[in-house]
Amino acid sequence: MKNKVAELISAQVESLSKEEILSLIEIPPKTEMGDFAFPCFKLAKTYRKAPQAIAAELKEKMENASFLSKVECLGPYLNFYVNKQEMARQIVENYKNCKNYGGAEEKNSKTICIDYSSPNVAKNFHVGHLRTTIIGNSLNNIYRKSGYDVVRINHLGDWGTQFGKLIVAYKRWGSQQAVENEGISELMRIYVKFHEEAEKDDSLNDEARSWFTKMEHGDEEALSIWRWFREISLKEFMSVYKMLDIDFDSYDGESFYNDKMAAVIEELKEKGLIKVSEGAQIIDLEEYGMPPCLITKKDGSSLYATRDITAALYRKNTYHFDKCLYVTGLEQKLHFAQWFKVIELMGYDWAKDLYHVPYGLVSLKGGKLSTRKGNIIYAEDILNESIQKTRSIIEEKNPDISDKEEVSREVGIGAIIFNDLYNQRIKDVVFDWDKILNFDGETGPYVQYTYARAASVLRKIGDKTDEIDYNVLTDDTSMALIKEIERYPQAVKDAADRMEPYIISRYAVALAQAFNKFYHDCQINVLEDNIRNTRANIVEIVKNIIKDALSLLGIKCPEQM
Ligand code: ARG
Repeated sequence: MKNKVAELISAQVESLSKEEILSLIEIPPKTEMGDFAFPCFKLAKTYRKAPQAIAAELKEKMENASFLSKVECLGPYLNFYVNKQEMARQIVENYKNCKNYGGAEEKNSKTICIDYSSPNVAKNFHVGHLRTTIIGNSLNNIYRKSGYDVVRINHLGDWGTQFGKLIVAYKRWGSQQAVENEGISELMRIYVKFHEEAEKDDSLNDEARSWFTKMEHGDEEALSIWRWFREISLKEFMSVYKMLDIDFDSYDGESFYNDKMAAVIEELKEKGLIKVSEGAQIIDLEEYGMPPCLITKKDGSSLYATRDITAALYRKNTYHFDKCLYVTGLEQKLHFAQWFKVIELMGYDWAKDLYHVPYGLVSLKGGKLSTRKGNIIYAEDILNESIQKTRSIIEEKNPDISDKEEVSREVGIGAIIFNDLYNQRIKDVVFDWDKILNFDGETGPYVQYTYARAASVLRKIGDKTDEIDYNVLTDDTSMALIKEIERYPQAVKDAADRMEPYIISRYAVALAQAFNKFYHDCQINVLEDNIRNTRANIVEIVKNIIKDALSLLGIKCPEQM
């Protein structure tokens, strides 16, 4: 519709291109002021007239378009009132003509790698990792819908000097039994113990270093312990992924690059980028206002950045990505800026296709969730807690629904996901149960509840025809809902362009609110066939879009709640 208005103006105004006109068109602040407004200030110079006069002149020339009910001048603005039936028809027909409304009709033959979740072996999967998992998964869904091939990469933190420490700790203070029984928490316990003991006895650190060196050189004893820790950890991570119904295309973590780093270090040397400083190999980035990027320590062992550089080269050669995204906390900003620069200095122009996609901290209402002070919040625990709390709300509100178990899972988990995705990534997330699980708030449960309401309306109506009588849809409430339907494709596009799932979650709330007003104001199950069918069809469209939007966030929609 905006496009059509722009065309109409464009036919009368030569000094501006259609694109310029499009960008000037505004949506008036009040519906009484029409659906679109065109400000005439820009034309004053060329026409050598006051904008008011120009608006008046233009108005005369564009009154007869059939999709408009009227055009009016409001001072320097030309205001367009769209013919409501026509507008509703266009939006609904456009919806119906799409196989994938809001997304791409065909694949675009571009590949995006998304590196997300990527927890650290032998460390707990905490709520921070939950955020990267949820954001990365949502970006994956959004890009897939938009026509991209996505490679979902779990760059497990499964290599590094910490494993030397763990081996030492295990040999001194651990037992096979305890690790088998307790899993990651036992590994964490002995890791903490290592640090306490190493404070008193520095030789433990040397011992740990030498174990990691053994790992880097393929020592079988070291590797078999490491492999076991990795397996135990992965099993725990998998149970979180299962709860979230998330999978990856690759679990090649840091260890995967162990035998690939030497060639890269060689390349860095050949390109004259490496400097030796106190025995360590570094890349000086002073010129770019950053501390040096460490490539090897003085004992020759590799670092996090070494493995990231190697992984980026590997991914480029393997997946030929158009973009590669790294979803991690903001605190890693410098790390990514440093090694992205290194890729650029190596002469790879695709350095510009690497994106750090940061996010803010997670806190519990009333305090930060610290991983160091022991009050660690495990992702699994918070998900389970949410499921349980949801379960008791359902028991209280609607104890008669079938499969309460499944519904509590979908709603409880959906609530956490939605809360994580409701604001810009960079904003901190606060866990406040009363808010997260408020069925009337701007929450996952609210949107899911709206979906279930739509489903129930359709169940009650039973059979309906495809008939849509556009005259039935001209009231303000219906029009507001139709306009929300129209907004979905733009929301998906913005979310993809800005790598911001919150645009989808905000959209879902707005759609749900518009729907609930419609449900309240416009009786659906009435005797008149044309009205009932028309409204039921709109309900069905909204239901489908809610489901699609929530699926982009990684949230399921129970049919009953
Ligand atoms: N394992 C890291 C962490 O837990 C995140 C890894 C992110 N990905 C990467 N390629 N550096 O903080």
